[in-house]
Amino acid sequence: MPRNIIIDTDPGQDDAVAILLALASPDDLNILGITAVAGNVPLALTAKNARIICEVAGKTDVKVFAGCDAPLTRKLVTAEHVHGKTGLDGIELPDPVMPLQDQHGVDFIIQTLRNEPAGTVTLCPLGPLTNIATAFQRAPDIIDRVQEIVLMGGAYFEVGNITPAAEFNIFVDPQAADIVFKSGVPLVVMSLDVTHKALVTAPYVKGFEDLGTNVGRVVASWTNFFERFDREKYGSAGAPLHDPTVIAYLLAPDLFTGRHINVQIETQSELTLGMTVADWWGVTDRAPNAMFMGNIDAAGFFKLLTNRLSRL
Ligand code: BDR
Ligand code: CA
Repeated sequence: MPRNIIIDTDPGQDDAVAILLALASPDDLNILGITAVAGNVPLALTAKNARIICEVAGKTDVKVFAGCDAPLTRKLVTAEHVHGKTGLDGIELPDPVMPLQDQHGVDFIIQTLRNEPAGTVTLCPLGPLTNIATAFQRAPDIIDRVQEIVLMGGAYFEVGNITPAAEFNIFVDPQAADIVFKSGVPLVVMSLDVTHKALVTAPYVKGFEDLGTNVGRVVASWTNFFERFDREKYGSAGAPLHDPTVIAYLLAPDLFTGRHINVQIETQSELTLGMTVADWWGVTDRAPNAMFMGNIDAAGFFKLLTNRLSRL
């Protein structure tokens, strides 16, 4: 039986690749819906981009919802400097024709968790945690019903990317992250420690192109686009492909290793706001609340990704 998931996302080219990976895997994953959130670019664009991505895959029956347009308490910080003006820069794509659902994304999350049997829905956040935290605040009864949250966010050894101390998704809405990390739901965290090892180097980009399909061409253009920015920044051979690690974990958890540890979110300090304070070395007696991933079999990950994308 495929696993029921809700993808919560702020596309973003790497979100886009994650969504395509999920769409390419219907035997494993049943996408109940995609909820857009403000993050890499404002909500109007993330809600539009989510539909563009579904249309690239020819999956126009997927339900896409718009969620929160701003973090719980802070002003929205966006990342056009990485993803371009549209969030999906790299290749010109037509506006979507498939509809945006009328229901608010948060209401969809709440309703779905209430309707489906308890413990059968996994949440996959690929952006700031605003939608998930808002749902938990409004409907605390759903918290116990979540099977697992597998998210991209945070860092320990790699520390930060948007500030010296914080990773983008957590930094944009630290209050929301705090709520999610304290919720008691089993968490799997794909940190920068993992994603900075999933570098999309030129041969992998070529591998997408060589699929000879429209999806392969689009993914090659997207990954090529933000690869330029990240290559300059990190001086590495390729850019981290962050968000697809979440979906890859659902498909092949053995590609990843990490530690079940305590992770807390800094919500006060101006200097280190949004830092994921991860007790990697077990120096406190704080109870573990997250499976914090630190390593990935990158070759295996790209093999899985390219293989699955070839099915679209
Ligand atoms: C995260 O931030 C976004 O820019 C990416 O889409 C990813 O979710 C990486 O820090
Ligand atoms: Ca993202």
